[in-house]
Amino acid sequence: MNDIGAHVAFLDRYYGRQRRFYDFSRRFFLFGRNRLLHALDVQPGHRVLEMGCGTARNLRKLAAMQPAAVCYGIDASSEMLLTAADGLRADGLERQVTLKRALAEEVRPGRTFGLERGFDRVFFSYSLSMMPDWRGPLQAALECLAPGGKLAIVDFWDFAGYPGWLARRLHRRLHNHHVHFEPAVLEHLRGLEKSGKAVLQLRSVARRWAYLAELTPT
Ligand SMILES: C[S@@+](CC[C@H](N)C(=O)[O-])C[C@H]1O[C@@H](n2cnc3c(N)ncnc32)[C@H](O)[C@@H]1O
Repeated sequence: MNDIGAHVAFLDRYYGRQRRFYDFSRRFFLFGRNRLLHALDVQPGHRVLEMGCGTARNLRKLAAMQPAAVCYGIDASSEMLLTAADGLRADGLERQVTLKRALAEEVRPGRTFGLERGFDRVFFSYSLSMMPDWRGPLQAALECLAPGGKLAIVDFWDFAGYPGWLARRLHRRLHNHHVHFEPAVLEHLRGLEKSGKAVLQLRSVARRWAYLAELTPT
């Protein structure tokens, strides 16, 4: 099995159990997700894509916030997508939200969803830190944006607002769950702004528990 195959197999094993209590448990540590949904500023008619949508917790909320938006979600784990599909059915949102099993690094509006143009909004919510190489997914997300579109990311930061021992413990715990904060992601986003390719807004959530980045290509 290659690295990607092993990654997907891990996700299905891990989430095969976790998906049953995922939405309840994650509210206690995946901070800033609602802030991201508001920051997206989704307008009627917008097409929105979530990379690594998991149980579709975010897409269900977004679809309720803006019923005239069209939402799409991809995830590598078929286990997570089972829970996501159940949730959409329960909320009667199957027509407004389309889900596909795909790797973030391979998503293309045409090939993945049969769309002729890109998305007005693309976002990652605590998924980029779980992807083995963040470069491919980030590049794919930027290429999926329609002109004038916006990319947003909420994810674990460096816990700089917490005592050192606690920050180290949190990082170790995340590492054991295959979650990694890569400072290079933020350096890359800052680089895009410095070179004039995008405008970046970077905010801290809960004393650098997480960052919320909004990137608008120029
Ligand atoms: C921590 S969960 C976050 C789920 C959701 N975004 C949320 O905010 O609740 C991370 C998700 O990313 C997915 N994922 C990890 N690597 C992926 C990849 N390379 N391509 C697509 N999805 C991936 C996992 O299967 C999982 O559902």
